[in-house]
Amino acid sequence: MNNLEIDIEKENEKENEKEKEMKIEEVHTTKPDQRISSHSHLKGLGLDNNGEAILTESGFVGQTKAREAAGIVVELIKSKKMAGRGVLLAGAPGTGKTAIALAISHELGPKVPFCLMVGSEVYSSEVKKTEVLMENFRRSIGVRFKEVREVYEGEVTEITAEETENLYGGYGKQISQVVVGLQTARDSKQLRLGPGIFENIQKQKISVGDVIHIEVATGAVKRIGRSEKFIQDGQLEYDEFVPIPKGEVHKKKEIVQHLTLHDLDLANARPSGGKDIVSIVGDLLKPKKTEISEKLRIEVNKLVNKYIDQGVAELVPGVLFIDEVHMLDVECFAFLNRALESEFSPIVILATNRGVSKVRGTDALSPHGIPLDLLDRLLIIRTLSYTLSEISRIVLIRANVEGIKLDKESLAFLCKKAQATSLRFAILLLTPANIIASINGRDTVIVQDFQECGVLFYDAKSSAKLLSEQKDKFLD
Ligand SMILES: Nc1ncnc2c1ncn2[C@@H]1O[C@H](COP(=O)(O)OP(=O)(O)O)[C@@H](O)[C@H]1O
Ligand SMILES: [Mg+2]
Repeated sequence: MNNLEIDIEKENEKENEKEKEMKIEEVHTTKPDQRISSHSHLKGLGLDNNGEAILTESGFVGQTKAREAAGIVVELIKSKKMAGRGVLLAGAPGTGKTAIALAISHELGPKVPFCLMVGSEVYSSEVKKTEVLMENFRRSIGVRFKEVREVYEGEVTEITAEETENLYGGYGKQISQVVVGLQTARDSKQLRLGPGIFENIQKQKISVGDVIHIEVATGAVKRIGRSEKFIQDGQLEYDEFVPIPKGEVHKKKEIVQHLTLHDLDLANARPSGGKDIVSIVGDLLKPKKTEISEKLRIEVNKLVNKYIDQGVAELVPGVLFIDEVHMLDVECFAFLNRALESEFSPIVILATNRGVSKVRGTDALSPHGIPLDLLDRLLIIRTLSYTLSEISRIVLIRANVEGIKLDKESLAFLCKKAQATSLRFAILLLTPANIIASINGRDTVIVQDFQECGVLFYDAKSSAKLLSEQKDKFLD
């Protein structure tokens, strides 16, 4: 076995001095987990190879024209012909606008950023309206970094920490260095690493039998997965098994990172202080929200442009989806107009259920409550109301997903209800009705359960009716 002694940390320091330009190394993407359960039955737009909608596919029912139009939008986005333009999904509540937007995100795959926000989100008391929009704009623009880096890669054969007495005379011992053994199909090496890297190894819970790589320049450690050798042990079902790397342990490797402009803003806004006590306490005292200044964003843009010119980075315009866009006011719309013109612009998808209505913050009436100069930039996709048989199919799909059984009469009853109120409300009733059914000792929901639900819960329309009837009893 080669007994190489490499002090990566020292190398690391030298490197750091050379290049202290921009933080990309340890940037993790800040994409929030998106789990929108009321749309979990949708897996995509359900189009065939010619882009035509298959009547019932991927959980989608009907709404064929809108789905086909959305398919074309996906193609435009993929071929990068959409940047700086927008799409408006317009239609009555519950006609599947949000569903179509999420299906577009499915079709684009995980490597194209998709950022979802609701119009009313801009009215937070802490941050300026346009700041909220700006942040979401930058979350929707991806940067793909591709670099060839020197790495050590292999299956871990040993991790031995070497301890010394604590220099400061406290209890316990200090890790002075750690020896990590790595092997590939035909090579093996032993590395001697600094304590900083050991911390990293512990944080990622790396153990013998994992496949990892360590970057020489930065000392960054990444766990790739569990070695295939251990596949039959199967203690950890969720673990990803990977083949043992071939070739040498020490090699050049192409590393691809998908980040967004917002990730880069954040990483460069945070003070890069060390891990001493003072800065840790400082971190605790500081408000969670890091301010990102306009100046910093301009700097980040410049650097990204530089990396693009060098061929290291590539821009991936993603999608910013603003649901309930009529909640935005005239100031926000002006911002949107301007931002769409800028050099880094995502594709913007808007959704609204408004007809001709007032643009917030003005007295002007405009279609969809959106100013005309913005409307001018948008392709508009209409979603149409569903027929009774479409409703019944959607309700059945949802019932299936939630593991709820309906008998024939109760299905018909619920579909009628959906037509009278909205599809969304009808879907909402499934679970409470199921609870009532199981309280009564049944595993199938019958009409009575929905009727009981109707006594307990009001839909928007009947609630509004009640309010107007009993106006004098409520506060204004
Ligand atoms: N064509 C469809 N096929 C399957 N499910 C649908 C369809 N349209 C809407 N839904 C479901 O109906 C519910 C309401 O739709 P949603 O997209 O929220 O409506 P909107 O955003 O237009 O108000 C959601 O649970 C959605 O997943
Ligand atoms: Mg919606």
